[in-house]
Amino acid sequence: MASQLVFLGAPGSGKGTQASRLVKEKGYKHISTGDLLRAEIAKGSALGKKVEGILKEGRLVDDGVVLELLKANCSIESHSYIFDGFPRNLDQAKALDAQVLGSHQAKAIYFEISTDIVVERIINRRVAKKSGEIYNLLTRPPKTPGICDISGEALIHRDDDKEETVRKRMDIFLAEIKPMLDYYKNKNCLFKLDASESSQAVFEQLEELINL
Ligand code: AP5
Ligand code: MG
Repeated sequence: MASQLVFLGAPGSGKGTQASRLVKEKGYKHISTGDLLRAEIAKGSALGKKVEGILKEGRLVDDGVVLELLKANCSIESHSYIFDGFPRNLDQAKALDAQVLGSHQAKAIYFEISTDIVVERIINRRVAKKSGEIYNLLTRPPKTPGICDISGEALIHRDDDKEETVRKRMDIFLAEIKPMLDYYKNKNCLFKLDASESSQAVFEQLEELINL
């Protein structure tokens, strides 16, 4: 069984897109804290109500809240996971090691990309809530405009995908990423890929890194 993967990268760098393909082709489980939080909001749970405004504004949810949600949704002994969107800062990186991964090996994979590219990608992103499919009006349009190819449901534009919010999410990301990269580099488990390439080319880079 493959080892655990930690995806680090800006909003819109393609973490969710690549995770979804690795799930289909390599048997990983995908755990996205953003998806878990959005599911709580959709359910209208107490947690969902608490975090809804935070996501909409592009700010980070409290570390402890997200960590508990993550722990409740993964069982590290029996599966290989892709951790997508967690960690978001150095404290979360340390908590992931201490409280979730323990002695399990993980590769941290950094999706390198420029801000201008991610803003264009995110503004053109459309997602299907039920099937989890991720589309792009420019690079991966659905066959019928506005409709998911797989489930037939209406596609949505995420609440936090407006240009102004994307730039705020990007600022937060840029403020937090350096200490995390240093942390994983010091542990000798940091790998980088060029996330500005096509989806297929990024997948090929990932396959190589996973097999190292
Ligand atoms: P989250 O859902 O994690 O969002 P994110 O990290 O900002 O990342 P995105 O999902 O926007 O981007 P992605 O890298 O998955 O890109 P995608 O594959 O979709 O978090 C949302 C919010 O939840 C946070 O702001 C925060 O409030 C909260 N939160 C979550 N985790 C938290 C935590 N740990 N602590 C605290 N708060 C937390 O691709 C983007 C677009 O590009 C798509 O349209 C896709 O089709 C297209 N695309 C992808 N790859 C390519 C390619 N190679 N070429 C061309 N187009 C491409
Ligand atoms: Mg995502």
